[in-house]
Amino acid sequence: MNELRIMSVVGARPNFMKIAPFTRAVDNHNKQTPAGAPRIVHSLVHTGQHYDKAMSSSFFELLHIPRPDVDLEVGSGSHAWQVGQTMIRMEPLLAEWRPDWLVVVGDVNATCAGAITAKKGQIKLAHIEAGLRSFDQAMPEEINRIVTDALADLLLTYDETADANLAAMGVPPQRICRTGNVMIDTLDYCTADAARLDVNAVVNANAVEQTPGATPRKSIVPGSFAVLTLHRPSNVDSRETLAPLVQYLTEEFCKHTTLVWSLHPRTVKQLHSFGIWDSLAKCPNLIPVNPLNYLEMLCLNLNAKLMLTDSGGLQEECCVLGTPCVTLRENTERPVTLLANGGVSVLSGNQPARIREAVRQFHGFGRRPHRPPQWDGHAAERIVQAIIAHHPTA
Ligand code: UD1
Repeated sequence: MNELRIMSVVGARPNFMKIAPFTRAVDNHNKQTPAGAPRIVHSLVHTGQHYDKAMSSSFFELLHIPRPDVDLEVGSGSHAWQVGQTMIRMEPLLAEWRPDWLVVVGDVNATCAGAITAKKGQIKLAHIEAGLRSFDQAMPEEINRIVTDALADLLLTYDETADANLAAMGVPPQRICRTGNVMIDTLDYCTADAARLDVNAVVNANAVEQTPGATPRKSIVPGSFAVLTLHRPSNVDSRETLAPLVQYLTEEFCKHTTLVWSLHPRTVKQLHSFGIWDSLAKCPNLIPVNPLNYLEMLCLNLNAKLMLTDSGGLQEECCVLGTPCVTLRENTERPVTLLANGGVSVLSGNQPARIREAVRQFHGFGRRPHRPPQWDGHAAERIVQAIIAHHPTA
């Protein structure tokens, strides 16, 4: 029988939204395989980098991702530990399963570790979300992107800037295929369900318990509040950066705007270890919430008047939804989302003076949705076709 064996690897939260539409597109292909096209035998590997329900399994459930065939249970650790352990545990798996292709997504440690192991095992490699570059090697993700793109046989990109970045590093054009943005496939798949959620129900279900004696929080008015996410080591791993940022938020920003802060586990740890947790917990207009599931975060994004974030995925979602987005970074690998390029995101770095200026810039801005070409909800279907077309026996 004409079969194509594909194994996909995911490890951390931002991977799950990207693999969900791919697994669905594979299913749909198998339900209606065109004459002469191969049936796809797909297996899914979870490296276990993210393992909490809130960081992992809730995304599998809500996005209807099949249970992973294998969980490598790598867990938390240094970069070398996560990449090394993933490679050590992937190697025998690849030797046993011998897929025709390994598919990796995004730029996390699972992406890079999967890529290296596949290529050393003579297995073809496809990279979804190839070609993104911040040109900042202080970001661990940038190193993962460079390594993965240098190895991939098929580089699936989401815009012309990504294509140009790959061309500049000498990737032959026949390996590059512009298929669009899988994150937006997931956004479109979920928007109607997220819009049915109630903002206050989402916040109340996830709010971190208030300290005894704190002023009770008021309910949130849709369209009037802001959302914050922060997890990059450059923003949360030093007290010198995080303390003034929290001071600006609690003493200035929250004086005029309610802020819902969806907390990443890394950030919670650092807030406690730097002794600044109490100052945010006491601020009546700042609502810390535990990590939200995909639909809950999308509900907040649909109803917020402003996003403050260092997440690349949220930058893209804000772009399509039109939510003004203060990006707490000095650079972005997603320039298409910037206000200057027709999107809604402004780079502010992490110093209060520039964040204040960026917030001011969005005063009275409203919503300005922008959909770059091929961010149309159908990227994963094109990706499946591209892999089939690039398979040597096709
Ligand atoms: C990883 C990705 C980053 C991505 C982010 C999204 C890399 C290099 N980084 O960073 O690109 O934007 O995920 O979240 O792959 N932890 C938990 N529960 C979990 C998982 C982690 O409490 O389920 C804790 C760990 O103890 C760890 C911290 O969160 O100390 C950070 O996790 P880690 O996997 O090191 O990287 P992220 O910062 O999440």
